[in-house]
Parts: sequence; C-alpha cells; structure tokens
Amino acid sequence: MRYEPLIPEGLVYNQAKAAKIIAEFTLGRDRLAMIAADFRHDLVRGLRGEADSSMRMLKSYIALPTGKERGDYIAVDFGGSNIRVLLYRLHGDGEYELLRKIARPLQSSETNNSYDYSGTTGSAEELFTFIANLIGELIATEPADREYLLGHTFSFPTEQHSLADARLITWTKEIATRGVEGEYVNRLLAEALERQHIKRVRPVAIINDTVAVLLSAAYQHGNTYIGSIYATGYNTCYLEPFGGQACSPMILNLEAGHFSKLTPNYIDSLLDRRSEKPNEQRLEKMVSGRYLGELLELSLRLITDQLSVEHNQSPLDIAITSRLDTVAMGKIIEDTSAECEIIREILRQKLGYELTASEAASVREVARAIVTRSARLVAASYVGIIWQLAGNNPVREQSIVIDGSLYANMPLIKQSLTWALGELLGEDSDKVTLRLDNEGSGLGGAIAAAMSAGVPTGIS
Ligand code: BGC
Repeated sequence: MRYEPLIPEGLVYNQAKAAKIIAEFTLGRDRLAMIAADFRHDLVRGLRGEADSSMRMLKSYIALPTGKERGDYIAVDFGGSNIRVLLYRLHGDGEYELLRKIARPLQSSETNNSYDYSGTTGSAEELFTFIANLIGELIATEPADREYLLGHTFSFPTEQHSLADARLITWTKEIATRGVEGEYVNRLLAEALERQHIKRVRPVAIINDTVAVLLSAAYQHGNTYIGSIYATGYNTCYLEPFGGQACSPMILNLEAGHFSKLTPNYIDSLLDRRSEKPNEQRLEKMVSGRYLGELLELSLRLITDQLSVEHNQSPLDIAITSRLDTVAMGKIIEDTSAECEIIREILRQKLGYELTASEAASVREVARAIVTRSARLVAASYVGIIWQLAGNNPVREQSIVIDGSLYANMPLIKQSLTWALGELLGEDSDKVTLRLDNEGSGLGGAIAAAMSAGVPTGIS
C-alpha cells in the first residue's frame, strides 16, 4: 500500500461538508424498518435457493448441542488477524474448562520474526503448517498416547456438505493468502498435521464463528437461536427449524455481511472501490471494525479537501491506509471535553491535522454518526431474523448471543443497538436480550468436535 504525503499545511476543515457527511450516515426509523424487511425478504429468497438473494444462507450440518457433551477437545479459532489454538475440557451440564491456549497473529513485523501468512505473499502450505505447529505446541506436554478430535472455527464463507469439511468460497476481511480459496480447509489442515508428524489430532468438524458462538451459548444457557459476530468482521447465523419440511433443524450461516439491498452513500462506495473485493460484503463494509476507521478517515479527507469525489480519483491514487482504527475511533467518541484535547492529539499524530476545539468536536460527531449507523444496521439485520423466526406467531423470549470486540468495547454500540431494537420491535423488544460472549468462537469449535459423532442424520 502506498502512502500519500500528508498535506496538513493550509488544511481547511469544512464544517458544512462535515454536516453533510453526518447526514449521509444518519438512518431514520422508517428507513431502518425497510432495511429490516428487505433483510428478511432476502433471507427467505436465500432459503428457497433463489439466485437473487444477496445472502449465502450456508448450511452448517449441525444443530444445537444438548449441553451434555463431555471430554477433551482441541479447537482452532481462525478469525482473521489471529490464530488461536485451545484445549477444552467439556464437563457436560453446560460446564467447561479451558485447559490451555496459544494465540499468534497471522502477520508479524518483529525483527527476527517477521512473517505474513494473511497477505498475497503467504501460501496455503505456509499458513496451515503454521497452524499445525501451534497445535503441536499446544499438546507438547500432554501424554504422547492421547488422541484428540479437533473442531475448527473458520470465520469465512464456506460451502459445506458435511460437518467434517468445508470449501472456502472466498476470503473476506482483506485476507488474501494464496491457494486456499476453492479448497477444502480441514483437508489442508489435516495434510499440514501429517507433514508435521502430528498424528494424534484429527480434524472432525468445521464451523463458522457465528455457529460456534451459537453452539457455545446453547451449551451453556439455552433459549438462544441467533448467534452473531460483531468485531473485525460482521455476520449472523440462526437455527432454522425447517418447519413443515423433511429436514431436521440446522444452523444456517447467513453470511449476513454480504447483504447488499442497501443504499450505500458515496463514502461507502469510495471504500468499496479501494477494497480487496469490490462489490462484496457491502453490509460488512458499513458496520464492521475492519472498516469503521477507514470510513472515518475517508470522511475526514473529504471534509478537508484532501480527497475529492467530484474528481473521481482512482482507488490507487487515493492510497490511504487506515491510520485510524477502531481504538482511536473509540477514544475520539469518548472525548466530550470542551477542548477536545484527546481528539486533537489523535488527529495530530495519525493524520498530521491541527484542529481547533470546535473542529475536533465535529470530528467526534462524524465518528458518532458512523458508529451509530453501524449498530442500527446490525439491529435491522437481527430484527429481520426475529420476524422470520416468529412468522405469524408472537416473538418468543430469547437471547441473541454476540461475540466481538466492537460490540464489547466500542462506545455507543450497545445502546444504539438496544435503542434500534426498541424502535423496530416495540414492546416485543423486551423479550429479546442481547448477551455478550467473547469465548464462544473457541468453545464452539470444541463443542462441534464433541457433537461430530452424534450430528443429526437425514439432513438434506
Ligand atoms: C465472514 C464470515 C464471518 C464474519 C465474522 C466475515 O467476513 O465472511 O464468515 O462470520 O466475517 O468473523
């Protein structure tokens, strides 16, 4: 990625443009209700297998656990920027212990240890050897004769015909490792384990992270049918009862981040054009942590005339890297002091901007608008699913389980989401509890491994 030189001298912060951009990111109740209804329609189209649905509605070949699953299992949690390998002991009755865990980034620029398995320079073989070695490290101190089943939480869209393996449809979240798209992922992992002479670990299940989170919540608490990730990426799954059809209930991974019946504004379009995969993951690019900082940065470049939509600069000419991340954005939103010193310092350091207090306050409002829109769009997607599950019946009491740093840590998200659910569901919103579960993506992998022997058959 090229850096364009910063041109802070003579930079003008145009408050009128800022107000216009804030309006672009503001979504009223009526528009939101339409988005929720469109989301439901698209979901139904996807269920019927119609080609014009923008959601993939991927089968997971697993339903909910009983809570009685027991034993020691390995989970691999492949989320996006990090790999985690974990050893769990399931006690049954919704109880579990995390016995050991190793986490490593997919990319490191440390001196003497620099590598990148997530960019175009990384190959499938290197990536999976890296993971196999972590698994080897995880069980190195365990008795040599112990064998393990492994559940793989793989947080990307995959096509699946059984619980045991899945083919990667496409990378998302800007991952670009060569040689994995189109391949069976657990086969790549099993081959790497073989290459590294780790013969006592058998990958038996592969699930999306949304599915993992739902399994984890259902194992521990019950009463949960919708699982969601709201972090670097965004996606949701639910338990489809297949009422009246000859199929057993099964969790469907919507790949909700790919939902596209939306009206992106010109900043969304700009971001999309410069992304690894233009036109894909349109909802995810409007809501998830991977992109929010970039939306703010593009907005600020437009407000300060460092970028112009009118001149239609090509994505390469723009060449802005996301110097503003979600952590910076959170701090910007939290600084409500009169002088806005924290905001001004962040923008000085990251973008070289010297702003007055009132300009900095305006930056905060832009950030608030972007984050609030994110939460409202996510709420609309949940409501689309709640409506679908209820059909003509009353909405039932339920929890939605959410895993993710953005939901957990970004100011405004929880309250905006709850507020939007109230706007869309009215009194029924009292029946819906949002539950945070940051352990689910690992634990769910272990539960899926435990369930692998007893997955329902007859699933079509
Ligand atoms: C992927 C989903 C995943 C989500 C959250 C998206 O980019 O397409 O499969 O569930 O990120 O990690």
